[in-house]
Amino acid sequence: MLVCAFLNIVILGCFFVSTSEHRTCVAAALKDVFTYLTRYQGQVAVFDATNTTPERRQVILSFAKDNGYKVFFVESICDDPEIIAENIKQVKLTSPDYTDCDKEEALVDFLKRIECYQQTYIPLDDDTDRNLSYIKIFNVGSRYLVNKVQDHIQSRIVYYLMNIHVTPRSIYLCRHGESELNLLGRIGGDPGLSHRGTKFASALGDYMRDQSISDLKVWTSHMKRTIQTAEFLGVQYEQWKALNEIDAGVCEEMTYEEIQEHFPEEFALRDQDKYRYRYPKGESYEDLVHRLEPVIMELERQENVLVICHQAAMRCLLAYFLNKSDDELPYLKCPLHTVLKLTPIAYGCKVESVFLNIEAVNTHRDRPELNKIELNVTKDK
Ligand SMILES: *[C@@H]1O[C@H](CO)[C@@H](O)[C@H](O)[C@H]1NC(C)=O
Ligand SMILES: *[C@@H]1O[C@H](CO)[C@@H](O)[C@H](O)[C@H]1NC(C)=O
Ligand SMILES: *[C@@H]1O[C@H](CO)[C@@H](O)[C@H](O)[C@H]1NC(C)=O
Repeated sequence: MLVCAFLNIVILGCFFVSTSEHRTCVAAALKDVFTYLTRYQGQVAVFDATNTTPERRQVILSFAKDNGYKVFFVESICDDPEIIAENIKQVKLTSPDYTDCDKEEALVDFLKRIECYQQTYIPLDDDTDRNLSYIKIFNVGSRYLVNKVQDHIQSRIVYYLMNIHVTPRSIYLCRHGESELNLLGRIGGDPGLSHRGTKFASALGDYMRDQSISDLKVWTSHMKRTIQTAEFLGVQYEQWKALNEIDAGVCEEMTYEEIQEHFPEEFALRDQDKYRYRYPKGESYEDLVHRLEPVIMELERQENVLVICHQAAMRCLLAYFLNKSDDELPYLKCPLHTVLKLTPIAYGCKVESVFLNIEAVNTHRDRPELNKIELNVTKDK
């Protein structure tokens, strides 16, 4: 999955070392690229280093040619002193390169790095590099130059890079208020809010007003319980079908006990690989991740957004922003009546969890113990 982080203005990696050290470092990094793309069937490897000269870029191009890989260069050019100063403050000084470093020393060191680059840096050239595939990003997105996009993946990368931004903002994620079916322990369906669900909706309105965000966007799914929740905010909202809850197929509106009783094998299979398990005539978490991609892209493009959705949908969004693995995703805790405020910072997202003090049922099921499930699956077969 893509990672929520600021775009690095000067790319970090193998640099500020002597030429011979640089060569060793690049060789090791390219070996990692090779291992990832062949042994681990990776599709896209990001070679994050300062390939600031035609010679350095040629090393990468030769490596790619030998292995039949395509290369797409991302060049980020920034000459606005204000952006540079802010970037050093926000991004570089919190980078892994500078942990346990005095801030002043780090700042001096970083300015020295920039100076050092300026002496050798040769940007991609309109003429001599006209056959290469690349994007040049000027001053964090005030202008772009895109050259020779070769395929679908490259065009998606361009699309992504043109959507992300570094304007400070927060994304608020929450579920609808408690629903009538939540009260009964039933999954899915299209119920309305319970009495306590309505109280949450009203508390959410108060909470968001306290955040005093003038340009807040509010998104819901097409389901009644998220729309009813948004109605209490007294602001415009937009409905996304892509935000609908995971489709539980034949298990819709059942309790977990009923599923276990009627479909014992399905239930055990789901516990074995919850991410890939697809409900009969329904969806898997993996399906949901694909369905949510346009939402994620639009979240990248927007500034302050409140997303009112559902347990499984929220887990997918959260996993994207917090860089959680497929294995962890279906077990992320997204309790009812709790807002998660995500604020992008360098190298990740800050998370604040705010329970709005309205009681609700607990809909979370912990990851079951694996050996027990295996026993039951064997027995069923
Ligand atoms: C670009 O490719 C064309 C066609 O393959 C070739 O004739 C030309 O010399 C190349 N130009 C550069 C600068 O590499
Ligand atoms: C994201 O998670 C993977 C492991 O799942 C880790 O290797 C990687 O460094 C993480 N990326 C960031 C930016 O934290
Ligand atoms: C496994 O089967 C036993 C006996 O049928 C049952 O009591 C138990 O709850 C099952 N465990 C799981 C995790 O499904």
